[in-house]
Amino acid sequence: MLTLEGITKRFHKGSINEVLALDGVDLNIRQGDFITVIGSNGAGKSTTLNCVAGCFFPDKGTISLHGENITAWPEHKRARFIGRVFQDPLMGSAASLSIEENMALADRRGKSRGLSRGVKARDRDRFRELLSQIGLGLEDRLKDKVGLLSGGQRQSLTMIMATMVRPDILLLDEHTAALDPKTAGHVLELTDKIVESQKLTTLMVTHNMNHALTLGNRLIMMHQGRVILNIEGEEKSRFSVEDLLERFFSLKGEAFSSDKMLLV
Ligand SMILES: Nc1ncnc2c1ncn2[C@@H]1O[C@H](COP(=O)(O)OP(=O)(O)OP(=O)(O)O)[C@@H](O)[C@H]1O
Ligand SMILES: [Mg+2]
Repeated sequence: MLTLEGITKRFHKGSINEVLALDGVDLNIRQGDFITVIGSNGAGKSTTLNCVAGCFFPDKGTISLHGENITAWPEHKRARFIGRVFQDPLMGSAASLSIEENMALADRRGKSRGLSRGVKARDRDRFRELLSQIGLGLEDRLKDKVGLLSGGQRQSLTMIMATMVRPDILLLDEHTAALDPKTAGHVLELTDKIVESQKLTTLMVTHNMNHALTLGNRLIMMHQGRVILNIEGEEKSRFSVEDLLERFFSLKGEAFSSDKMLLV
C-alpha cells in the first residue's frame, strides 16, 4: 500500500555536521500492517516517519501510495491520508481550545480548516461516544480547555483525533514515551483497540522492546539509516527480547545500544 524504495536523506549537506540519516531504506507496507519500529539512537526512525509525512523530501528514492508516486507531494497534501501522534503530549492539540473545538478541527482534516461551521449537537454525540472509549470521563468535559488535561488524557485525546477521519496510514513516534508507565500502558491499550477495530495501517516507533514484540503483526529494526531486520506473523510472535538482542549482535557484531531502549 505504501512503499519506500531506496530512501536516502542527508542533513546539513556539505557541512562538517553532515549526517546520513537514511541510507537506502526499502519498506513495503501492506494494507492493515501494524508495524512496530525499534532501533538505536539516531537510527533514522523519526526521519523515516517524517519522510512519509512529507516534513521534508528525501535526497533519493521513491515513496508511493497505492501505486502513485507521492515523493514530491507537499506535507499538507499528505495530511489528508495521514494521522500522526508525537512523543510530546502538547503537540497534537490546541491548549486554548476546548475538547470539542479540537475534535471539530480534527474532524475537518483534509477539508478546509476553520470552526465557522461550529459544533453541532450531532457532532457532540459522536465526540462523546468516541471519548467514552478512553475510559477517563472526557466525554463529560467537552467544553473544558485541553490545556487543563493531564499528559495521558491529552495523548489519548490526540489518538482519537488522529483517527477520527480514518487515515490511510497512522504514524506514531514514541507517543507514550513521555508518560509514566501506567499511563503509557493505558494509552497503548487504547492505541491497540483503535488500530485493531479500524484495521488501520500503522507504523509505531517505540523504545520499549516488549511493546514492539507484543503489539502489531510486524516488527522492523533500524540501525544507521537502514532497516536491518523485518520479522512478522508467526516468527514475530515467537521472538523474545533476548532473540532481538542476539539477532542484532549477529547482524552487526556489536551489542545493541540505546540510552532510551527499555528491554523489559
Ligand atoms: N531535522 C534534522 N536536522 C538535522 N539532523 C537531523 C534532523 N532530523 C534528524 N537528524 C539526524 O538524523 C539522524 C537520524 O535521526 P532520527 O531522529 O531519525 O533518529 P531516531 O531513530 O528517531 O532516534 P531516537 O531514538 O533518538 O529518536 C540523527 O543523527 C539525527 O541527529
Ligand atoms: Mg526519534
